[in-house]
Amino acid sequence: MNQERTESQNNFTITLKCFYGFEEVLKEELVELGYTNCQVGNRAVSLNGTWKDVYFLNLYSRCAISVLVEITRFAFRGEQDLYDASLSVKWSNWFHESQTFVVRGAIQTQRVRNTHYPFLLIKDGIVDHFREYNKERPSIDTKHPKIVIDLYLNDREGVLSVNTSGLPLFQRGYRTSTGIAPINEVVAASLIRLSGWNRKQAFYDPFCGSGTFLIEAALLATGIPSNIERTHYAFKNLANFNGTLWEEIYDNAPRIVRSLPCSISGSDISDEMVIKARRNLRGFSFGRFIEVSSKDFREITEKKGIQFMLTNPPYDERMQLEDDELYQQLGTWMKHTMQEIPIWIISNNAEGFKAIGLKASQKMEVFNGALRCSFRRYDTYDSSINDRQ
Ligand SMILES: C[S@@+](CC[C@H](N)C(=O)[O-])C[C@H]1O[C@@H](n2cnc3c(N)ncnc32)[C@H](O)[C@@H]1O
Repeated sequence: MNQERTESQNNFTITLKCFYGFEEVLKEELVELGYTNCQVGNRAVSLNGTWKDVYFLNLYSRCAISVLVEITRFAFRGEQDLYDASLSVKWSNWFHESQTFVVRGAIQTQRVRNTHYPFLLIKDGIVDHFREYNKERPSIDTKHPKIVIDLYLNDREGVLSVNTSGLPLFQRGYRTSTGIAPINEVVAASLIRLSGWNRKQAFYDPFCGSGTFLIEAALLATGIPSNIERTHYAFKNLANFNGTLWEEIYDNAPRIVRSLPCSISGSDISDEMVIKARRNLRGFSFGRFIEVSSKDFREITEKKGIQFMLTNPPYDERMQLEDDELYQQLGTWMKHTMQEIPIWIISNNAEGFKAIGLKASQKMEVFNGALRCSFRRYDTYDSSINDRQ
């Protein structure tokens, strides 16, 4: 039997989606935000909550890509179950027929004729619901839908949810300028958390590009929500949107700081990238405390109080540089100039990692969007240079 959760119910299942490999990091973030009862799933973490939590999590989660509210969960025996489950939802309680919508999600079963068909059946159920109530049928818009319905389907069951974020939460609204290989903002925030940076160690990124790590580090250290500059949230389009509640959460969020708890700085060889990083930082109250300079890392000969490094050097695929030599010089620089500080590197360049010539003390497989990368920690001491992997 379908168990529809309408907007009148107080507590419902909220699922936060994340990138592959970041489930535990997201859970840790949620625990820190006060959500202790979290269930880790595949690229997702679920918890019970209210609409207040939905608004709060959209604003405050740095590691989630989207926040879903479960509408109904149903047994899946065949394709007809999809249509029936959809038709049984009172969609007109969720949105107005004049609003455009789209159905997306993940199909993890072979028991459907093709992976698009389940979405079509859900769409038919939605449209027929509005027809049953003698209303206009809402239109589909795959590019800029007002309402995003999510279907998760496996061999045994289906879950229909409303995606309350809409556009993915890595579209933070703060990065107006990027380079050719920027790191995804949600990935950057997740990596910073994964690295164990204690938010007090002097943080440095020598390949800072448009400044994503610097901004996410500063947002974390100051407690300013990563989405403070974002205005788009699909929950604003839902029939039950409570503008007063949202404004209360948004207005109470910290945004102005008069200092940083530690030094955060970066540099990049490209003047153009440095200008972009400064431009992106300008939108924040902490922007003026973050120093960004135009420098080739090889010119830096002193540690100057740096206590923690996290960076993504050029990626061969997209940047077409003589990477091996650069990574080799990076290894030498880490050993001789940046010794005895934790250094975290994310790259998809396996040859580059070998060229570094140092033994990583930790290694994890992560994705930056579609790029499969490795995230490695180095603790460089004098004896490690010949300790090849
Ligand atoms: C993968 S991108 C970093 C992207 C950055 N994380 C962001 O989010 O925009 C690598 C950066 O390394 C810079 N770079 C390349 N060679 C360099 C060098 N020798 N010293 C310093 N920066 C360098 C490039 O200009 C580029 O911005």
